[in-house]
Amino acid sequence: MSASTVYPSKAEIIQHSFLDEQKYQDLYRQSITEPEKFWAEHAQRLDWFKPFSKVKDTSFHAPDVHIRWFEDGYLNVSHNCLDRHLEHRGDQTAIIWQGDDPSEHKHISYRELHTAVCRFANVLKAQGVAKGDVVTLYMPMIPETAVAMLACTRIGAVHSVVFGGFSPEALASRILNGRSKLVITADEGLRGGKTIPLKANVDAALTRSDLDMVEKVIVVKRTGVDVGWREGRDICYQEAMAQASDDCPAEVMNAEDPLFILYTSGSTGAPKGVLHTTGGYLTYVSLSHQYVFNYREGDVFWCTADFGWITGHSYVLYGPLSNGATTLVYEGVPNYPDLSRFWRIVEQHKVNLFYTAPTAIRAIMAAGDELAQAADSSSLRVMGSCGEPINPEAWEWFYRVVGDSRCPIMDTWWQTETGGIMITPIAGVNDLKPGSATRPFFGVQPALVDNEGNEISGAGEGNLIIKDSWPAQMRTVYGDHDRFVKTYFSTFTGAYFTGDGARRDEDGYYWITGRVDDVINVSGHRMGTAEVESALVSHPKVAEAAVVGYPHAIKGQGIYVYITLNVSEAPTDALKEELRQWVRKEIGPVASPDVIQWAPGLPKTRSGKIMRRILRKIAADEHDNLGDVSTLADPSVVDELIANRVGAP
Ligand code: WT7
Repeated sequence: MSASTVYPSKAEIIQHSFLDEQKYQDLYRQSITEPEKFWAEHAQRLDWFKPFSKVKDTSFHAPDVHIRWFEDGYLNVSHNCLDRHLEHRGDQTAIIWQGDDPSEHKHISYRELHTAVCRFANVLKAQGVAKGDVVTLYMPMIPETAVAMLACTRIGAVHSVVFGGFSPEALASRILNGRSKLVITADEGLRGGKTIPLKANVDAALTRSDLDMVEKVIVVKRTGVDVGWREGRDICYQEAMAQASDDCPAEVMNAEDPLFILYTSGSTGAPKGVLHTTGGYLTYVSLSHQYVFNYREGDVFWCTADFGWITGHSYVLYGPLSNGATTLVYEGVPNYPDLSRFWRIVEQHKVNLFYTAPTAIRAIMAAGDELAQAADSSSLRVMGSCGEPINPEAWEWFYRVVGDSRCPIMDTWWQTETGGIMITPIAGVNDLKPGSATRPFFGVQPALVDNEGNEISGAGEGNLIIKDSWPAQMRTVYGDHDRFVKTYFSTFTGAYFTGDGARRDEDGYYWITGRVDDVINVSGHRMGTAEVESALVSHPKVAEAAVVGYPHAIKGQGIYVYITLNVSEAPTDALKEELRQWVRKEIGPVASPDVIQWAPGLPKTRSGKIMRRILRKIAADEHDNLGDVSTLADPSVVDELIANRVGAP
């Protein structure tokens, strides 16, 4: 095990922390030994219309897996994020919106946000949206997206946000899965000075004949460009808002009523609709937002994630607003107009707590220290990272150059499925080790098991499982509870399997080693290799495809593709480009292959299973160390692939 540098918290951080090491230990122990007591107490941070009497009813034992928290309590998410703040902080800024163009920004107070949400909730109602209906959002990073999400929660509709970078095909399959009658979008998105044709993509998706359940499309005017318009179906957001009443009482929701669906990739099949519910989710994201980042009254919190990902749900919107924070919503990208953009925004809006992804840090780091030092980031107090392992070099650069060796970095491990942060430092409490997500948050019981499911004690490495439920856990795969049970609770009996591997050191710190399944993580975007393969084999010239991740300096992992063409096809560079475009069209730009290698044959076992382990080694240029190849049907295939390996960009 490599010895690593330890970074203790600085005195000024410790001084303002809510906890110290002893208090963390005590609270953590209580959260595990008396979860009902712990969570009953911490759920009081929310306003409940009707208090709960039951705290936890959960089982991880297949086939009867069920997860229920606060099941007889009633509350409303938008009430907790807005109404209850009006009396004391109605005029405080809820959202600082920073446009893609540096000169464009605005402040929206809690009162203004509340009014907009009530109005839009009435717009939704007028279109026939009722409690339990699924509403699909395909939106840019603009305040109207927050308004739409909160308005759904106000009337008990279930939002399903689809990332604006996904293709019409990917959008269509998500609309279909949720059977949405209503889609909300914008004319265009704006990122890095470039426009994204969101409305045109929605129109393209809705040409599919199986999407005729979509009755209405609400379109926010963002750039004001002319877009195609279907009379009777399309509704202008601004016009509808101007006519709507701003009086809309919050629907009384059961704690276990669905709150949102968010699609994420797994190792097999189409993306799964991860379903989160109301009371447990909000309790957990509220508590974790406050403790992990040491959020204090008056702080400006900026999480750079898009609303289209879980981080955008939990830590741009629901965590911060439930705590009455000022949350910054940024429309653009880290490198526009140049790579100093993040720090210019920090300087301009005096950001105190800053939460981003390793891929952004690596890209900015590559541009050198001068750009990072071009702006004043002395307002920063605590910083965070999530989405993929952060390499120690990037960690140390972030700490030293951006945080001026003053701000601790919260390396937070979690997943779409977990709803909130699971393994993480707590600002001012624990010493940090670059590259380690450190220790479990309250209520989280991680464990390491070997492939047979035997628990590993003390220091060691294995598959990362979670032994008992926490309030923000996903409740099911939307419409497919069997898939939920199979995917997460059938690999290791009685435990939630994360799909990640991890190492635990002598101090009990966790080091996430990456996915142990066929899921890759490209610039923090999670993707199933099977999804990319299925897009590729749907191309008429492709006979077979195998997709693996390989180490990429900026993206963390890049996409390496091995293609077997139909016998009559010639392998040309033009065809490589055609295949890249094909994948962009099928899934979206995030899935575009970095490297394509023509593979006349793929390494298979005698039973015909592709040996991806070997393909991963070749892609990573580690073919000196292929491991056991005795089960290969035709070993010569491997030599041929090594000889024709494509140098990775
Ligand atoms: C996968 C989940 C963090 C929420 C947004 C991504 C990887 C996430 C870390 C971290 C190492 C990490 C895991 C996980 N991951 N955070 N701090 N260190 N790996 O959610 O898209 O559902 O992806 O991201 O592999 O399983 P997601």
